[in-house]
Amino acid sequence: MPRVRVHQHVNPLSPFYCFIPKPIELDKTFANPQLPLHLDIGCARGRFILKMAEMFPERNFLGVEIREPLVIEANRLARENNLTNLRYEFNNATYSLDRLLENLPADVLQMVTIQFPDPWYKRKHAKRRMVDENIAATIVGHLKVAGRIFIQTDVDFLAEEMFAIFRANINLIEFNTAANPFPVKTERETAVEEKHLPIYRSVFEKIK
Ligand SMILES: C[S@@+](CC[C@H](N)C(=O)[O-])C[C@H]1O[C@@H](n2cnc3c(N)ncnc32)[C@H](O)[C@@H]1O
Repeated sequence: MPRVRVHQHVNPLSPFYCFIPKPIELDKTFANPQLPLHLDIGCARGRFILKMAEMFPERNFLGVEIREPLVIEANRLARENNLTNLRYEFNNATYSLDRLLENLPADVLQMVTIQFPDPWYKRKHAKRRMVDENIAATIVGHLKVAGRIFIQTDVDFLAEEMFAIFRANINLIEFNTAANPFPVKTERETAVEEKHLPIYRSVFEKIK
């Protein structure tokens, strides 16, 4: 099966991506909606949660991605592999993650991963970066107590920017971590490791 061809980057501020999604309904999405939920934001082709969903059938996995062709292909693969604990949603997380998660029951969101988000290096493009105070508030608002957020990037200034946003949230405590806590690496992580470049990681836990 050839890889789906897509634009390498899309502008999340373009009106095309500023749409309001339907809130996700867990009972219409997963075979067992009661399972703890892992949300992977900016999941690209979604292979990280595909492998995680195979390894951990006792958890549900939701991938969010702004490039729709990748979402369609990833959902096709999930169905082909009979993974009823895995779903991908076409969503501009910066613009409307709050709407997508609006109906999420309390105490279900156990893990959120944000891995190698696009850095948008130029200052004039900084507003296109995925992590800002609003998305952080949405994530923390839905995360269950003792739930965790794992963030990793190979871009030093972006790491500091993202970590500072989550550090400012009084409901979280931070654990520094040198290693990826999961048994699976994302595609970007593998590429960065092959080049022996540094990766900046942090874990935040909701305490109240
Ligand atoms: C550099 S890739 C990293 C993909 C994957 N997490 C990995 O580590 O291999 C960043 C991904 O985030 C997606 N993305 C960027 N902005 C987004 C947004 N506002 N909402 C959802 N996804 C977004 C991009 O389309 C891209 O697939």
